[in-house]
Amino acid sequence: MKYYRIEGAHPLTGSIKVSGAKNFLSKCIVASLLTEEPCVISNVSRIGDVQVTLDMCASIGSSIEWMNDSTIKISTPRMTTHKVPIEFSGINRIPVLLMGPLLHRMGKAEVPLLGGCDIGPRPIDFHINALKTLGAEVELTDTKYKTVATHMVGAMISLPFPSVGTTETILLTACMAKGTTVIQNAAIEPEIIDLIIILQKMGAIIAVDVDRTIIIEGVDRLRGFTHKALTDRIEVASWACAAIATNGDIFVEGAEQTGMMTFLNTLRKIGGEYEVFEDGIRFYSTGEPLVPIFLETDVHPGFMTDWQQPFVILMTQAHGLSVIHETVYENRFGYTNELTKMGAVIQLYKQCLGGKPCRFLHRDFFHSCVINGKTHLKGIEMTIPDLRAGFSYIIAALIAEGTSVVKGVEYIERGYESIAEKAAGLGARFDVIDS
Ligand code: EPZ
Repeated sequence: MKYYRIEGAHPLTGSIKVSGAKNFLSKCIVASLLTEEPCVISNVSRIGDVQVTLDMCASIGSSIEWMNDSTIKISTPRMTTHKVPIEFSGINRIPVLLMGPLLHRMGKAEVPLLGGCDIGPRPIDFHINALKTLGAEVELTDTKYKTVATHMVGAMISLPFPSVGTTETILLTACMAKGTTVIQNAAIEPEIIDLIIILQKMGAIIAVDVDRTIIIEGVDRLRGFTHKALTDRIEVASWACAAIATNGDIFVEGAEQTGMMTFLNTLRKIGGEYEVFEDGIRFYSTGEPLVPIFLETDVHPGFMTDWQQPFVILMTQAHGLSVIHETVYENRFGYTNELTKMGAVIQLYKQCLGGKPCRFLHRDFFHSCVINGKTHLKGIEMTIPDLRAGFSYIIAALIAEGTSVVKGVEYIERGYESIAEKAAGLGARFDVIDS
């Protein structure tokens, strides 16, 4: 079994390079299935989620070549089957995104059930309804989704919630449907915009209009693309929180201010500091006490739900009460149990502790959190429950007095590249034990 042993209470200082964004790379790879031509993607992270997505594509006929350590060429001149093997069931969110490309090239698709972090029920009803509206018949069996479509026709689709995955499903399907598709209440995260940029490079006609409206004019065929993946703004936020929480100073090469604006504002409000350079962002502690905050997560351009976990760790080190209202996922504070064992004082509430409209009002989900700091954390043995909480446990271990043992590191390696090496390079006492 592989685990991390971390000795805490050492400031992290130095420079690291952020990797390509996990939540963009898998979609970029899927977009390459829409053409017979080769596609070249650079800034590719060597992480589990990318590898699983490449394996899924290979299983239906793609050939993949690593041109160097972080650049791939993927070509799918012909698809060998419309059935994505069942062994890809329950791993990540990607299988549903394959349906659009498979329907366009094969007229049918069979994809396994989805997996992904246990942070709520994570249904895909919006995706299925959108595919049906675009002309597909969809059947759910106990192990897979089976879809058929003789041809896909553009439609008006209004999303009940600005779902990232559903917006991606529609973009990957409507780009070659007959006629125009309008998505209302679409997700507009930077990763979505970069997917639109790729589709535009391939020959698609897609406009991002006001009020979360995306207009897609279907085209007959798409061609290959070359694209450098944007960097992972979730990884950047985690290193930023680690820098401030350990009274350190970290330059994150590749960090981009544009996608981080709300995070940067929030960091400055609690007393962290940063300096933006052309090639990255430096995050550093001022040595002043951290200030508690009232915070609500939201869809872009709000405070990202994936930034919440490292931020909660940081707020255990602020002097006073912080309140966080999670409005994107029902059950994304489960990880805080382990933090209270380390000495954090955290209370979860079912109530909406905030003013934003929230789908979980009166729904009995513990989706609000109050943190009382500053608390002295002690190292413990902990097991990672999901990807983003996993990095947060690492940050907690880096702050805590004494040694922590962090198990379940396969979650980390699914979504972050070379965490141990990067942390050790910043002065962390960080051992990887493979017993
Ligand atoms: C993507 O998940 C990301 N994952 C998530 O990151 C991220 O937190 C999330 O977007 C929000 O930004 C990937 O890109 C692989 P959603 P996704 O559809 O697409 C509900 C990580 O750790 N919903 O925007 O699954 C859903 O339950 C992960 O990298 C429906 O009800 O998120 C949730 O409450 C965690 N029905 C909300 O919408 C649907 O059909 C947002 O989900 C679809 C979604």
